[in-house]
Amino acid sequence: MRQLSAERGDGKLNRRTFIKAGAATALTAASWSRVYGANERIGIGMIGIGLMGRIHTRNFAAQPDVSVVGVCDTYDPRQEVGARIVGGNVIRCRDFRRLLDNKDIDAVVISTSDHWHALLTMLACAAGKDVYVEKPLTLFVREGRWMIDVAKRYKRVVQVGVQNRSGPNFQRARQFIQDGKLGQILAVQDTYCRNLMPGFGNPPDQDPPKELDWDMWLGPAPQRAYNPNRAIYHFRWIWDYAGGQMTNLGQHSLDIVQWFMNVDAPKSVYSTGGRFYLKDNMETPDNQDVLIDYPGFTGICQYREATAGRAGLGMGGVTFFGTRGMMSVGRGGYEVFPDRKADPFGAMARILDGHPVGGPQPVDEPRDQFWTEKEKDDSGDGQKDYVQHARDFLECIRSRKQPVADIESAHAVATTCHLANISLLVGRKITWDARKEQIVGDREANEMLTRPYRKPWDKELRNLKVT
Ligand SMILES: NC(=O)c1ccc[n+]([C@@H]2O[C@H](COP(=O)([O-])OP(=O)(O)OC[C@H]3O[C@@H](n4cnc5c(N)ncnc54)[C@H](O)[C@@H]3O)[C@@H](O)[C@H]2O)c1
Repeated sequence: MRQLSAERGDGKLNRRTFIKAGAATALTAASWSRVYGANERIGIGMIGIGLMGRIHTRNFAAQPDVSVVGVCDTYDPRQEVGARIVGGNVIRCRDFRRLLDNKDIDAVVISTSDHWHALLTMLACAAGKDVYVEKPLTLFVREGRWMIDVAKRYKRVVQVGVQNRSGPNFQRARQFIQDGKLGQILAVQDTYCRNLMPGFGNPPDQDPPKELDWDMWLGPAPQRAYNPNRAIYHFRWIWDYAGGQMTNLGQHSLDIVQWFMNVDAPKSVYSTGGRFYLKDNMETPDNQDVLIDYPGFTGICQYREATAGRAGLGMGGVTFFGTRGMMSVGRGGYEVFPDRKADPFGAMARILDGHPVGGPQPVDEPRDQFWTEKEKDDSGDGQKDYVQHARDFLECIRSRKQPVADIESAHAVATTCHLANISLLVGRKITWDARKEQIVGDREANEMLTRPYRKPWDKELRNLKVT
């Protein structure tokens, strides 16, 4: 503390100097609140106060070393929600540039619809702000590399909102697998089923509500008439703004896969499916299956939104199949189901007392031996993971270290998700050259790695000099 105080020379800390000082990270949350005056807190701007942004606003505002300086949303009533959560004096705006121009803001939290994630992150980095950006990282593959380049160029800390990485239960499950206790992993399965019958209806295009800045909401996406099924919350199922459950859930679940397995990219991806049943004007599949060829193991994703059955009882999750057993991992925790040791020669022989003559006969063997330990951990707490993830971001703002959910790994996961959707749309298997970030031998599919930004945002992109 003494050393930090000396930097300003008047016994007080300059907020930016203080934030930059890595030595300060040793302080606990409780001591931060005693130490910080209003001027020494990390100034945060919240962009997008929806389902997710409201949780982030609550969590960031509750941190003793944070001052939420501004709340921005294209829909006015949500600015009010944000301001109410923060309490006191806070900037409210529709246009995020007001927050980027504000010198009291050190970092922004981006919880808008997906089509804004990349551009907002890059503009914030260029404005000197650190960034917490919600998942999925991108709308299309190329945006990820652009974001990495801009974050590096402006030396910004970027945390991606895959908060499972901050969950101690996820970290323990990862350790179990990395210690080899599940043996060699041969396959992973990601299943999510729920029943949204009959769908979201078919409202006509209409004038946007006067409280909504529809042009700003659309941002870099193509000009379209307002439709409630394209806008708040529903954007998830429209290709112009999102990638359906493949990117919405896949960025979380394939992050668990690629993070646990230390894998950067698939070799190939094939996906099939469609919006087979739900009767509405949404676009992304209500039924999608994906087969991923990872180096040394296979991945299967199953996303169903018009059938659930028994699979609908849980919130889905990822299952790892290893040569010593199986592990299911989800927000609630994880469970290891060990495989029984059995003499392979006895396996078939046991049926109807073995072969009559000549083939293997049942082998007498102990029945209570297993290849690995049983383990059950139900300590998962999704709400705490959000807070822990925010804390990791705040610590990294001070230490300038890489946050736990770094932008490179998030780009790698988002890429796998986008490749699956490209495969679905072109109707064939995609072979991926991860080094060149190109699809092998498929011009039509390669063209889908990028999309144009609409005026005037195309100019902003050009100014960032990433393309
Ligand atoms: N990490 C998680 O567990 C988790 C959970 C839910 C949602 N999410 C992600 O959070 C994001 C938001 O999801 P949601 O359900 O809150 O959506 P939402 O539509 O309810 O909220 C998004 C808000 O952003 C506002 N907005 C859009 N563009 C804006 C802009 N340029 N400037 C200011 N405000 C803008 C909208 O008006 C809206 O209020 C999505 O990308 C989603 O994938 C993450």
